[in-house]
Amino acid sequence: MRFEGGGETFYRFYPPGRYYCQRCLDFERVYVEENGVITSSPCTCVEKRRSEAEQKSLEARLSAAGLRKKFRCRTFENFTVTDLNRPAWEAARAYAQNFATHRRSGKSLFLVGDTGRGKTHLAAAVVREVVRQGFRAMFVVTIELLSDIRASYQNEGKSEQEILRPLKEADLLVLDDISAVDQFSDWEKGKLYEIINMRYEAERPILVTSNKMVSWIKDRLGKKVVDRLLEMCGDFIPVDGENYRERIACSLRCEDY
Ligand SMILES: Nc1ncnc2c1ncn2[C@@H]1O[C@H](COP(=O)(O)OP(=O)(O)OP(=O)(O)O)[C@@H](O)[C@H]1O
Ligand SMILES: [Mg+2]
Ligand SMILES: [Zn+2]
Repeated sequence: MRFEGGGETFYRFYPPGRYYCQRCLDFERVYVEENGVITSSPCTCVEKRRSEAEQKSLEARLSAAGLRKKFRCRTFENFTVTDLNRPAWEAARAYAQNFATHRRSGKSLFLVGDTGRGKTHLAAAVVREVVRQGFRAMFVVTIELLSDIRASYQNEGKSEQEILRPLKEADLLVLDDISAVDQFSDWEKGKLYEIINMRYEAERPILVTSNKMVSWIKDRLGKKVVDRLLEMCGDFIPVDGENYRERIACSLRCEDY
């Protein structure tokens, strides 16, 4: 196919009907002839293709950061803000937007609240924004991390060092649901201390989510852990509001009728 525009001649060969964009037939510019003069402007598909590629690369980076599919789509925009959860949403959003500063100072974030309030959702939204800004983040569910490390002693898979290295090197480490179990063994306490202390000494931020308050963590994980968390995070951020899981379950039930 021969095409002339802007004083130049283009040749393109296509199998018929196989264009990505029917509007510009993949020329990426739209040519219009008026009174014998040909003018062209960029086609919308260029921007669409760029944003699709960006989206795909963000998805891949979120997956590499350890975010499961369910939480890869959780954002600040699709978090329903109410009077009760607004302070947490604002704090998490401001934290993510100013992450470059926090990365340098090691300032961390601790989200605490009852089950289903949206702590993991907000943590995922922070990871998304931080990764979008080009930082490396690692999201781990605390008890899964502990069992992965324990399993590494027995099997041929990743060694403990291989599991810990990315957690040490990441610009942001998320420890999700640190209070998921009611008791920690001495080994688990030691490991959590080691991981938190590793971030603390490197002055690298962590984001922790928990159902339980400071005193619970102090009783279970010890003063050394709590003191480090308090120094890194400052005030713990309460995530209040209604239980979203119950709400989702209810709306699904209601749809059945
Ligand atoms: N304000 C909200 N707007 C939209 N979706 C929400 C909101 N809060 C929670 N959700 C959704 O509800 C579900 C439960 O939230 P999430 O897993 O973040 O709770 P959580 O506080 O981490 O609970 P848990 O302590 O049990 O881990 C998720 O699918 C999440 O995306
Ligand atoms: Mg959670
Ligand atoms: Zn086009």
